[in-house]
Amino acid sequence: MSNLANVAVRNLRIDLGANTVIDDLDLDVRAGEFVVLLGPSGCGKSTLLHSIAGLIDVADGSIEIGGEDMTWADPKDRGVALVFQSYALYPTMNVERNLSFALRINGTPKAEIERRVKRAADMLQLGPLLSRKPAQLSGGQRQRVAIGRALVREADVFLFDEPLSNLDAKLRTELRRELKQLHQRLGATMIYVTHDQVEAMTLATRMAVMKGGAIQQFGTPAEVYARPDNLFVATFLGTPPMNLLRGALEADEGKLWFRTPHLAVDVTQYALRGAPDLARPCVLGVRPEDVRAAHSGAARDGDAAGQARLTLIEPMGNHRVLWLDYHGTQIASIDQDKTPLVSGAPVPFSFANAHVSLFDEETGTRL
Ligand SMILES: Nc1ncnc2c1ncn2[C@@H]1O[C@H](COP(=O)(O)OP(=O)(O)OP(=O)(O)O)[C@@H](O)[C@H]1O
Ligand SMILES: [Mg+2]
Repeated sequence: MSNLANVAVRNLRIDLGANTVIDDLDLDVRAGEFVVLLGPSGCGKSTLLHSIAGLIDVADGSIEIGGEDMTWADPKDRGVALVFQSYALYPTMNVERNLSFALRINGTPKAEIERRVKRAADMLQLGPLLSRKPAQLSGGQRQRVAIGRALVREADVFLFDEPLSNLDAKLRTELRRELKQLHQRLGATMIYVTHDQVEAMTLATRMAVMKGGAIQQFGTPAEVYARPDNLFVATFLGTPPMNLLRGALEADEGKLWFRTPHLAVDVTQYALRGAPDLARPCVLGVRPEDVRAAHSGAARDGDAAGQARLTLIEPMGNHRVLWLDYHGTQIASIDQDKTPLVSGAPVPFSFANAHVSLFDEETGTRL
């Protein structure tokens, strides 16, 4: 049986060729967690994952798994199983042989192999497919077999590198739900790499948003979404991403205001992380769902309000995105209302002041 294992990465540096791809990175994954590494292409997600698996040598720092220093341990001794994007099944073997291959190689007793294969097949609903060859399976079924190969190893930590990215949209969402249920049943530690924010938001107990080989923010999806630590995270997450407005902070008779030439937002109740430097330029961020067009109801008391011009309507089925031009700044609003609107029309809007974010314009750091 698997044990619950934590993963602790400390001061990790990884050099590939002449590049330092990861520098001084720390990551703490608790036993039983489902941690997602999310970030744009080339940010070092796979490198970090493969170093935990032992496929890449580290230049500095340490990797601890289940309380043991595994920095230089052989991949097979780490208690980890890795599932890749390309499932690379053995084409001449049927599903049962593919699942049991690694166990047969390392001389696991026959009864034990049967027990583990049956368990993995049950968990992944592969029972009816055991005698089929990979060519007789759909993409989703093949990926399930690839996950099953990791399951039979009964690893302590499961590592996934974009396992769903070769599948079509419908299959991806189905397998995504299966993976989440699998994690709930197994309770095993999982680290999952993706550049798909929906996968990250739906699967993660905590997610690490990465850029340029560094972790920008590590927290629950709800925290990271609602209170991004910097402008990169704010605009990487969300569809459309967070709206940004340039301006300055102003203290006035016990109140704090964010002001642009055209708008004043009362941010007196905003949870500042420290005393702000009022002389520095500032950016206000507001999620599209917190921008309310007036036809869907009156602004709440104290909420900032203005009038913009509607430039584009994007119907999304269960909602629509309104693109507003406010003195040259584009503002997206997620609108649940079905009131007919025409492009070019004036649209009064308001912000939910309680949900805005503030950032230093130069450093991009959350205030
Ligand atoms: N063998 C190598 N030599 C030099 N640089 C490399 C090597 N392999 C990868 N890199 C660089 O390391 C960085 C991180 O690559 P990595 O594959 O970890 O990114 P990733 O976040 O997984 O991206 P993707 O989403 O495209 O898979 C990239 O800038 C890449 O160009
Ligand atoms: Mg990658």
